[in-house]
Amino acid sequence: MQISTQEYDAFRDFLEKACGIVLGDNKHYLVISRLNRIVSEFGIASFSEVMKQLSNNTHLKAKIVDAMTTNETQWFRDTYPFEIMKNTILPEFSKKKLQEIRIWSSASSTGQETYSISMTISEFMMANPGALTNTTKILGTDISSTVLNEASAGKYDELSLGRGLSDDRKNRFFIQKEHHWEVRPEVKNRTSFQELNLMNNYTLLGRFDIIFCRNVLIYFSSEMKSNILNRMAQVLKPGGYLFLGGSETPSNYTDVFAMIRTPFGVLYQLKEGVSKSAF
Ligand SMILES: C[S@@+](CC[C@H](N)C(=O)[O-])C[C@H]1O[C@@H](n2cnc3c(N)ncnc32)[C@H](O)[C@@H]1O
Repeated sequence: MQISTQEYDAFRDFLEKACGIVLGDNKHYLVISRLNRIVSEFGIASFSEVMKQLSNNTHLKAKIVDAMTTNETQWFRDTYPFEIMKNTILPEFSKKKLQEIRIWSSASSTGQETYSISMTISEFMMANPGALTNTTKILGTDISSTVLNEASAGKYDELSLGRGLSDDRKNRFFIQKEHHWEVRPEVKNRTSFQELNLMNNYTLLGRFDIIFCRNVLIYFSSEMKSNILNRMAQVLKPGGYLFLGGSETPSNYTDVFAMIRTPFGVLYQLKEGVSKSAF
């Protein structure tokens, strides 16, 4: 399949409008390699036909956006967000005796981040019996229905468990089946998964104590990052926390978050007054 410069530019515009992902100047090979399978599945003969069909074929559009996302993830990715939760945030929530804790894993991919959050809560509860008397709910969302199906199944093979999960956690939080490992109900029951494009409205999700928005903003323009972070601020409860990816910072995009340094790493907290004025 060949892509002309004009078609490539039109595809870049389509993708940015559809999901925020900004493609670099010379990623023709990436587009071709990611779309090859879909093009033959739909019996489409040329790239110009792809572009023609995109405007009126929602199934094709969803498949293409899905194929263009990068779903790379790991268990307990970068370690520090989970250490901060365990050592700083959960003790604070426990002191405040919150009725309910709501956490949003906003680009959950195949569920590793969402379940790592839930395992962190289980570990905190085991180490501090009675400290969390509230219910904790973790919502995982992603634009890709393919990754969400895997996430909500909660079944992983040995290879994917090997990416960041210790043997101890594997044996404690998973049940071994014949061909895979299944997340134990105590970890799974706190979680739910839902399709959501970060370009769309979040207010129907309700408000959260913590938002994880990790390793997804890197694909967006600065304007879109700023737009997303400002809208996330509106669904955080007063004093709520935000975790970004290791190389990401909101400082250039928004003035609604304060940086908090802990011995484990950095996180962001909604500045006082922001949440109230946003509503
Ligand atoms: C690299 S993964 C990061 C997964 C996880 N947060 C982590 O840090 O390991 C990025 C995820 O963002 C999702 N994504 C990309 N664009 C999105 C959008 N517009 N709305 C929601 N999710 C999106 C992709 O489908 C992918 O699963």
